[in-house]
Amino acid sequence: MSICKENAVAGVDAVVENTNGDTKLQVPNSFDNHYDNNDMNEIFNEEHQFTGIMKKYWNQRHDLFSKYDEGVILTKELWFSVTPEIISKYTAKLIELAFRDKKDPLYVMDAFAGGGGNVNQFLECFDVVFGVDINHTHLECTEKNARIYFPKEQLSSRLKLLPLNWVYSDPSLPEDFVDEQAESTEGYSTKRESLESLEILHHMKFDCIFGSPPWGGPEYINEKIYDLNHLLPFTLPKLLSVLLQYTDNVALFLPKNSNLYQLQRVTTMLFPDKSYHRVLKTCLHGRPKGLLVCWGPAFVNIDISKVEL
Ligand SMILES: C[S@@+](CC[C@H](N)C(=O)[O-])C[C@H]1O[C@@H](n2cnc3c(N)ncnc32)[C@H](O)[C@@H]1O
Repeated sequence: MSICKENAVAGVDAVVENTNGDTKLQVPNSFDNHYDNNDMNEIFNEEHQFTGIMKKYWNQRHDLFSKYDEGVILTKELWFSVTPEIISKYTAKLIELAFRDKKDPLYVMDAFAGGGGNVNQFLECFDVVFGVDINHTHLECTEKNARIYFPKEQLSSRLKLLPLNWVYSDPSLPEDFVDEQAESTEGYSTKRESLESLEILHHMKFDCIFGSPPWGGPEYINEKIYDLNHLLPFTLPKLLSVLLQYTDNVALFLPKNSNLYQLQRVTTMLFPDKSYHRVLKTCLHGRPKGLLVCWGPAFVNIDISKVEL
């Protein structure tokens, strides 16, 4: 397993260079559209449940969680979504490096906790970890999976899980807006729950917020260049402005074929004084998995060669 550190590029100039250079896409021949979208919220953790194209996910289980065999649980949706452990570990170590000189306790949030792939690695490096998700079953998976890696007593003071539909955090939303689709989906956070969670977050300032937002399903790879307006639940500019209400530093895990010009434009728009972001291409077993993109003052001066896995 490896992380392509050598492909890391920093700064807007380098991003343009990357756009013209090494972002050739590999669409696997075996890619098909036979994903069955039923039962997405069911727990899949027994080999016989993995049929057809799902088999490859079962074979990758130890890439997702090295302690998979100790009782990890994931919904079917999460098998497509969890960040592989080595990439989560690299992400946590990179963000930790940005705060190495800070004396106070470090607070980080995973804005899309999923099955806890990233949360687990943040717990290794940060004092307090908030995990937010719209889906109650996903929050349960995060909690259960964290208990495999950390003692329960430790988690009660270090891990805070909040049910929240980020849609309600958009300041431009009319007060009476209701997300009908989420409200009618069983197990999704309601408006009331979301507003309660937002009330807690309004009193918080995080050192960094990380997020691996939904890319819109495995079909994202069909786009030659991924349009960052297709992220859910918001376009990239909106997602960043929502998260920047609670932190100065944001790191997002985005598709490997993301439109780098869009990234550049968003950076210039949201950080007019210091138009700067870092883009790191991550790989698993030599194959590109996604881009880790970091914004904010904490990331300006870090030497990524110092990230130790
Ligand atoms: C790509 S997964 C995150 C995986 C996670 N990084 C991990 O390693 O386990 C995205 C998550 O975003 C959550 N999500 C989708 N829409 C959301 C919304 N409107 N508000 C909050 N969470 C949302 C989904 O339930 C899903 O768990």
